[in-house]
Amino acid sequence: MNKPHLFTPLTIREITFRNRIAVSPMCQYSSVDGFASDWHLVHLGSRAVGGAGLVMMEATAVEARGRITPGDHGIWKDDHIAMLTRIASFIKQHGAVPGIQIAHAGRKASCYVPWENNGAPIPINAGGWETVAPSTVPFRESDPIPRALDHGGIRDIIDAFAHAARRALAAGFQVVELHCAHGYLAHEFLSPLANRRTDEYGGAYKNRIRFVLELTEAVRAVWPERFPLFVRISATDWKEGGWTVDDSVVLASELHPRHVDLIDCSSGAMVPDAKIPAAPGFQVPFAERIKQEAGIRTGAVGMITDPHQADEIIRSGKADMVLLAREFLRDPYWPLHAAKALGQDPHPPVQYQRAF
Ligand SMILES: Cc1cc2nc3c(=O)[nH]c(=O)nc-3n(C[C@H](O)[C@H](O)[C@H](O)COP(=O)(O)O)c2cc1C
Repeated sequence: MNKPHLFTPLTIREITFRNRIAVSPMCQYSSVDGFASDWHLVHLGSRAVGGAGLVMMEATAVEARGRITPGDHGIWKDDHIAMLTRIASFIKQHGAVPGIQIAHAGRKASCYVPWENNGAPIPINAGGWETVAPSTVPFRESDPIPRALDHGGIRDIIDAFAHAARRALAAGFQVVELHCAHGYLAHEFLSPLANRRTDEYGGAYKNRIRFVLELTEAVRAVWPERFPLFVRISATDWKEGGWTVDDSVVLASELHPRHVDLIDCSSGAMVPDAKIPAAPGFQVPFAERIKQEAGIRTGAVGMITDPHQADEIIRSGKADMVLLAREFLRDPYWPLHAAKALGQDPHPPVQYQRAF
């Protein structure tokens, strides 16, 4: 069989992606009470029209307390489903697979949107709320101290993820991604830099991964076998004493038999002072290593902007999918342009045929 390239379809379980290009989840901070709006329909819809294989909706809070900001998108009540149904249906009508990232911000919750007060924590008397985390360790020393979750609190949040997945299914999404990266709650359990617990959810490696494994099992139990489940991780904390790529390989090997289909390999955001060597494709080696050593599909993300660069990642077998974030904000039609650049038929929607 010929080796896959950027425009080779990918089938995972019963879902076929028309190509290997995904819209990486991107918070829009444009929701009120968690509700999606016409903004989300147009934003995500344009990228489906633009030819992406997978359109992943932003970090979506499984409970109101788990929002990074009051503007975060949410899926903690059934009332959220109606607008999401419209969005997922539109994405599908335009040939892309609708996905949704479900999330809990943990100790990084209760902040202003990035364009207000630099995204600083909101004081409780100005509309902020108490945050929860594995331990009473704040993100920055000057941040409010989160409350450490007890066992009941952990169980409630895992249940909230499962309810969120059920709502995502009702809305017509076909991929769920668990957000276990970027210093949010699930990552906080993984990393010794945030997790100082002494019970079965902290300390030894096998204890620190327990929350993510239980979360995965709870979501997989309600998310149908026919649909793919992705997990986004920060493959490294980029910090001495933190979570490492070796840790990520072992975690991926634990997630694979729990019916996770793809590890979306990001990095960082656990601590404010990490030194991150950001450069084109700098996280691709994580996707490559995890794919090879854990034998699971991976997604590569981070400063992938050029069609030839993206094509090479797939052709060389470093990852099974590429996820683009900021480049998709610059150009919603990136896949159509990339197809032309790579000598493939772009297949624009009929309405746009005269332009491509
Ligand atoms: C506006 C914006 C919002 C983002 N929101 C999320 C998010 O909701 N979930 C997530 O996992 N990553 C989020 N990210 C990170 C991106 O998904 C991506 O991993 C990162 O931007 C690197 O990819 P890029 O170089 O293609 O932009 C966000 C990035 C941007 C620019």
